[in-house]
Amino acid sequence: MTTSSDLFSESQQVIAGGVNSPVRACDSVQETPVFIAKGQGSHVTSSDGTDYIDFVCSWGPLILGHAHPEVLDAIGETILLGTTFGAPTRIELDFAKTVCDAIPSLEKIRAVSSGTEATMSAIRLARGYTKRDKIIKINGGYHGHADMLLVAPGSGATTLGIPGSAGVPSSIIEQTHLVPFNDVAAVKQIFTQYPNDIAALIIEPIAGNMGVVPPQKDYLQAIRQLTKEHNALLIFDEVITGFRAAYGGAQSLYNVTPDLTCLGKIIGGGLPAACFGGRTEIMDHLAPTGDVYQAGTLSGNPVAMAAGLKTLEILARPDTYKTLEQRGAYLEQGLTDALNATSIPGHINRVGSVLTLFFNNNPVYNLHDAQQSDTKRFAQFFRVMRSQGILLPPSQFEGWFLSLAHTQADLDQTIKAVQTALISIN
Ligand SMILES: Cc1ncc(COP(=O)(O)O)c(C=O)c1O
Repeated sequence: MTTSSDLFSESQQVIAGGVNSPVRACDSVQETPVFIAKGQGSHVTSSDGTDYIDFVCSWGPLILGHAHPEVLDAIGETILLGTTFGAPTRIELDFAKTVCDAIPSLEKIRAVSSGTEATMSAIRLARGYTKRDKIIKINGGYHGHADMLLVAPGSGATTLGIPGSAGVPSSIIEQTHLVPFNDVAAVKQIFTQYPNDIAALIIEPIAGNMGVVPPQKDYLQAIRQLTKEHNALLIFDEVITGFRAAYGGAQSLYNVTPDLTCLGKIIGGGLPAACFGGRTEIMDHLAPTGDVYQAGTLSGNPVAMAAGLKTLEILARPDTYKTLEQRGAYLEQGLTDALNATSIPGHINRVGSVLTLFFNNNPVYNLHDAQQSDTKRFAQFFRVMRSQGILLPPSQFEGWFLSLAHTQADLDQTIKAVQTALISIN
C-alpha cells in the first residue's frame, strides 16, 4: 500500500512544495500531509486506509459533508449534458436568482471560478466605479492571492509567518492601507489622511483567516457609516461566511448592508465557483455594459452551478442553520469543559458552525491577539488529534469547519480525543 509519506515524497518531485496550496503541506505543525483517497459525510479516508473525522471540510465549502448524494446526483445529471460551453446557460440564471434572493444587497452578480477572482474583480470594480486607487484592508484578513491583497494576509501567510509575498511590486502595496480588525479609530485615521482617495474597504465580516474572530458590537455598523461618509465602497468578503454564518451570510446576521459582496466556497458545492455582486448601479460598470473589464473561460460553469444550486437548495430547508448552531455550540462546550479540566490556557471563538481554539491566555479580537497564541502547543495538539483519527486544519490561524454531516457520535468522539490530547500536552 502506498503511504501518504511515499506520495508526498513523489509529489515533491513534480509539484512545487509537493502541494497545490501552501497550508496543505502541514509545515507549521511539523508534519507531512495525509493524502485523501475518498470522503463520505463527515469522514475522509487516507490513501493508506486510515479513517478520520474531518474538520477541514475542504476549508469551508463542504457544509453538507463529503459526497452528499443529492449534490452528486445534480452533478451527474448536469455533466451528461456537457461540461462547459462558453455561452450563457439557464442554470447560471437560476444560480444568480437564488443567490440574489438569499442576499438582498445583491441585485446583480458576476460568477467567477475562485474566491481570489471574486475579490480581485470586486476591487477592480470598486476602483473603476469610484475612480480612486487606494484600498483599506484588515491586518490578517485573507482575500485570496491577488497582488494588492497580499499585504499582511492571514491564512497560509500568517501560518508561515510571512508578511506578504515576493513578486508583488511596491507600487501596488503602497495603495493598500492596513488596519487592525475591530478597530474603528484606525479606519477613521486612514480616512482622515486620505479623505478622497479610498476606493473601498474590504473585510471578512467575521474574520476567518487569523482563526475565527467575530466582529465586536457595532464595529461593522461603524465602518459602514465611515465608508458611506467618504464615498468609499464597503466590500464584504463572505467567501467563508456566505451561506455559513447564516443563509443570508454575515451581513444578515449583523444587519449591515455592504456595497459589494464576494462569495465562494459553499456556493460551488465542492466545485470551483465563486461570485461577486452588489447594486445594479455599481455592477453595470462591468464590461460589456461598462468599462471595467472582467472575464473567465469557465465562469458560471454549469456543473459547478448545479453543485452550488443543489447545496443552496438543501441549506434553505427548515432548521439547517439551527442544527449547525446546535452542533457548533455542543462542540464548543465540550472543548471548554476539556480545557477547564486542565491548566492549559485557551480561548474559543465560534460563530455557528466554525470555531477556533486559540492556545492563548487572553481573548482574541484581532491578528495581534491571535499571534500571542502558543503555536508550538497547537502543533502538538494537532498531532495528537490526528493520531486519534481527527483531522483539524493544520494551523492555529484557521477555523474548524463543521458540516450537517457531523453526527452527535462524531462530536462525542472528537471531544474525547480533545480531552486525551490536552492531557498529553499539558
Ligand atoms: C475569506 C476568503 N476570501 C477569499 C479566499 C480565496 O478563495 P480561493 O481560495 O477560492 O481563491 C479565501 C480562501 O480561503 C477566503 O477564506
